[in-house]
Amino acid sequence: MPESLTKSRLFQNYARRPIELVKGQGTKVWDADGKEYLDFIAGIAVLALGHANPQVNATLKEQSEKLWHVSNLFESSGQERLAALLTSGTHFDHAFFCNSGAEANEAAIKLARRHTGKHHIVTFTNSFHGRTFGAMSATGQDKVQNGFGPLVSKFTHVPFNDSEALRGAVNEETAAIMLEIVQGEGGVNPTTPEFAATIQELCDTHGILLIVDEVQTGIGRTGTRYAYEQTVLKPDIISLAKGLGGGFPIGGILGTAEVGASLTPGSHGTTYGGNALGVAVSHTVVSTVFEPAFLKEVAEKAAYLKDKLSAKYEVRGMGLLMGLVVEDSAAFAADLQAKGLLVVPAGATVVRLLPPLNVSYEELDQAAAILLG
Ligand SMILES: Cc1ncc(COP(=O)(O)O)c(C=O)c1O
Repeated sequence: MPESLTKSRLFQNYARRPIELVKGQGTKVWDADGKEYLDFIAGIAVLALGHANPQVNATLKEQSEKLWHVSNLFESSGQERLAALLTSGTHFDHAFFCNSGAEANEAAIKLARRHTGKHHIVTFTNSFHGRTFGAMSATGQDKVQNGFGPLVSKFTHVPFNDSEALRGAVNEETAAIMLEIVQGEGGVNPTTPEFAATIQELCDTHGILLIVDEVQTGIGRTGTRYAYEQTVLKPDIISLAKGLGGGFPIGGILGTAEVGASLTPGSHGTTYGGNALGVAVSHTVVSTVFEPAFLKEVAEKAAYLKDKLSAKYEVRGMGLLMGLVVEDSAAFAADLQAKGLLVVPAGATVVRLLPPLNVSYEELDQAAAILLG
């Protein structure tokens, strides 16, 4: 809190760290006292191209001088251009834009129910899908739901990576299975190949829709455009946010032509979704990240860092969504912060490393030196 304020007038729903970050450039940030940090939180996997990226700033400035916002009552070539970029070379046909990950998951859940005419959705323990009612009800963590019930009905939470449990949980009433390819908030837990195969088989056999929550894993974070591309999964719908805007709030879903038919005019919407500034910034971020050479570098940098850190830690995750198993994640993160490296816990015994995707090898070396020191 700034010194001039003696009492916070904010709701105390965040356990904030007692520093304020006031400036950022690339992977570096500075606090109000001028202390420099390597930012391996990046807004929790948001700043795909780091802080104050010149191309992103230029896009924001240019668009801000042209048009900030018009209603979705009107045509939007900016949304069309971004939708084409996100779906190009995929099996998806449609995009819908909103403002956050939770909203994207709400849209995915609503679309799955409307398309199938069914209500039951299977999600997994330790998943995280957001804080709105549908997304919170989908989330498989009590601590997210405590005190807020009754939740939206017809969600079943099944143990993650447990194929037998999943087989027992789906039936002819199941509209969708929804998962993260790597559970981010829940401890950096990747889906096993065997579990992915079971999910796809059950979806194919029972006509169940597959929703992949790519809010944290999408837009290059794992070294491919979307994390599902590294699995056998063929989702009907994916949700996006975080890296999609590189720091500008924007979320969205992508869906197949088949499910697209169920979002008819008036069935769903949002005032700000697909805002002109948001889609312009997102297009610059995504077109940079989706360059094959850029994605290849993300994978190479992740392998480079993982190789170094494996000497001392159990390292898990995919690409630059990396988890280190430690004894006490909060104490560990606090110690690293004092040493100039910002990381974020994912549960009690895992810390996440989520640097900007364009982090340099020199910065990876600096972070590794702190972590191995
Ligand atoms: C996998 C996943 N889904 C959904 C969300 C919710 O996104 P938002 O905070 O933008 O609502 C998050 C946020 O951490 C997430 O990691």
